[in-house]
Amino acid sequence: MRVLGIETSCDETAAAVVDDGRQVRSSVVASQADLHARYGGVVPEIASRAHVELICDVIEQALVEAGAALADLDAIAAVRGPGLAGALLVGVSAAKAISLASGLPYVAVHHHEAHLYAAMIEDPHLEPPLVTLVVSGGHTLLIAMDAHGCYRVLGETVDDAAGEAFDKVARFLGLGYPGGPAIDRLAHSGDPAAIAFPRPMRGDGLDFSFSGLKTAVVQYVRKHPESEVADVAASFQAAIVDVLVDKLLEAARETGIDTVVAGGGVAANSALRARLLDVAAAGTVRVVLPSISLCTDNAAMVAAVGAYRLVADGPTALDDPVVPNLRLG
Ligand code: KG4
Ligand code: ZN
Repeated sequence: MRVLGIETSCDETAAAVVDDGRQVRSSVVASQADLHARYGGVVPEIASRAHVELICDVIEQALVEAGAALADLDAIAAVRGPGLAGALLVGVSAAKAISLASGLPYVAVHHHEAHLYAAMIEDPHLEPPLVTLVVSGGHTLLIAMDAHGCYRVLGETVDDAAGEAFDKVARFLGLGYPGGPAIDRLAHSGDPAAIAFPRPMRGDGLDFSFSGLKTAVVQYVRKHPESEVADVAASFQAAIVDVLVDKLLEAARETGIDTVVAGGGVAANSALRARLLDVAAAGTVRVVLPSISLCTDNAAMVAAVGAYRLVADGPTALDDPVVPNLRLG
């Protein structure tokens, strides 16, 4: 089954062609990060307009790189939520328009489910049950995937998402947007043990909280203006990584599931990846860590879910709406 996937939930315009939910034939991502950088975050209206300008070229490029024509496809999948309403509408409208014109089935996809399926592309033999940590700019979630299409949200953030905390702390430190990669880079030259920032809600269930950690960083820097920015970045990053990894392992223990997976933009973080590789080496759980281009927003993961959704549920009606606050499970 060959599926064209489309992703426009935030500030990446992406299209990809994937075979049988696992083999990527092409994956094109046009990032708008430069457009939003001067505002210090994603401006929804600018994102929607940029998606409109980019979407046709991105889809065409994905088809050309895959060596595929519309006639070679079996379905078109697009993310219906969660995300920015105007941004989602662009990808979904494009998918529906192609569906209407070509007669190909349209399949609506959940953005978090797509992040989860990135691991299936990374390891084509991977099957549920799994526990997934989805850590992005808008969400921090622990999800048990018991079977394809069968999810339990085990924990989520009660305030800021992990990526949001990276972005806000980076902005406070004057590191620009997007903040996660900037902190990641700077942290390489800092000491992660220099400052003992709090590990919020560690050992306290499977929910997360990052807003207090962000405030702790701000208060510390105001009190210690002489502190090295690289040490602040490394210490802040270490606190986030400790909490994320602890809770992911706790979720595996509580569910008895022995395969853990990470996805979402923050899963591109080098300290988090290094720690997860240590966990894998320890051997108590199996770790599947998608490559960085599969962790950040992309459409290959959307096409991958689309194949499963089409077989399980059939096509989605063309009057199906976008749902900005769509929940999983
Ligand atoms: O999944 P994603 O590409 O888009 C959303 O669905 O939100 O995640 C974007 C988030 C941003 O907050 C960005 O700062 C963060 O992922 N991010 C990182 C890194 N790369 C991206 N955070 C920490 N370290 C990174 N290397
Ligand atoms: Zn995402």
